[in-house]
Amino acid sequence: MTKVYKKNDIQSIKECGDILSQWWLVAFPTETVYGLWADALDENACKSIYVAKWRPSDNPLIVHISSQNDLQKLTPEIPQKAEKLIEKFWPGPLTLVLPKLPGIHDIVTGWLDTIAIRMPANQTALDIITHAQTPIAAPSANTSGKPSPTNYADVLQDLDGKIDAIIDGGDCEVWIESTVLDLTTQVPVLLRPGSITKTQIEQEIGAISYFVDDSENIVAKSPGMKYKHYSPDAIIVWVESEKYYQDIQQFIQTHPNTKVLSVNKDSCYDTQVEYIWNTAQQVGKKLFSKFRDADKNNLDYLIIEPLWKTDDWEWVRNRLKKATGIYIN
Ligand code: TXA
Ligand code: MG
Repeated sequence: MTKVYKKNDIQSIKECGDILSQWWLVAFPTETVYGLWADALDENACKSIYVAKWRPSDNPLIVHISSQNDLQKLTPEIPQKAEKLIEKFWPGPLTLVLPKLPGIHDIVTGWLDTIAIRMPANQTALDIITHAQTPIAAPSANTSGKPSPTNYADVLQDLDGKIDAIIDGGDCEVWIESTVLDLTTQVPVLLRPGSITKTQIEQEIGAISYFVDDSENIVAKSPGMKYKHYSPDAIIVWVESEKYYQDIQQFIQTHPNTKVLSVNKDSCYDTQVEYIWNTAQQVGKKLFSKFRDADKNNLDYLIIEPLWKTDDWEWVRNRLKKATGIYIN
């Protein structure tokens, strides 16, 4: 059985810190999604994360720190651009990919010579990392391929009995994983869009580029991105055609056990429709929980209406693309 602790219980934070130091598995809230944590400097602890999540071993982990002093345990150099971004966005949902120190285990970094690091903006998480006195490797606390968990019940749904404990810190605030930026190339590359956007980053450090999503590039630069992600058992159908209304109606005729997630208040189809608020922040926030709801309600299909193509929507489009089973445009 997996134990659930409440976040304000100092005793439990201490207990979880102790559990971590014996390399057991504990899930914690961050401001983005819940993470499944292990001592980043302990190879066996990190291996157990891969087993619990059924995670492919070449998909590297993000290492979480609570103080900038911890950077020196992980990377030999902090480029000027990194300093500027750290100053502006940490603690917060921005992960920086930097050169790694030789002593870091390959299992943490998926055999890459770089390491992904972030400082989460969640006091419980920061307290626990500080208490554990070590950087913490943490992927999202879901079974690989499933939507990321944004509350403790989501974690239990996937990992009950497979991990030792969960700290219940309530709902996450951002609900979508951190932006991942590679700073080891001359022009930094945005590997995973998140709530900190390309434009916000460029305001601090000048031009960066979007990662080009072809399969060769993925294997070389960010192995995690080649896997299907964020998918519920229900099939996600994303309709971006001009005549999307007719296309959705037609789909529903032949696939009745379907729900539409709509970004237009007035949308009306011959099936269940749920309006989700239409700023990127609000839609992003709802996405993973709606995916999980689809499975709880045994839906066969979940249809998404067209989304905007502007910079602030990029992270929502990115996650949806990886979860989508049928794309109609
Ligand atoms: O918000 C988040 O980032 C959450 C919370 C728990 O912090 N964590 C998270 O971890 O989303 P995970 O394991 O689900 O995703 C890590 C991503 C993957 O796409 C992986 O490929 C990439 O970060 N990554 C990790 N290390 C990398 C590296 N050295 N180079 C390039 N990409 C890396
Ligand atoms: Mg993940």
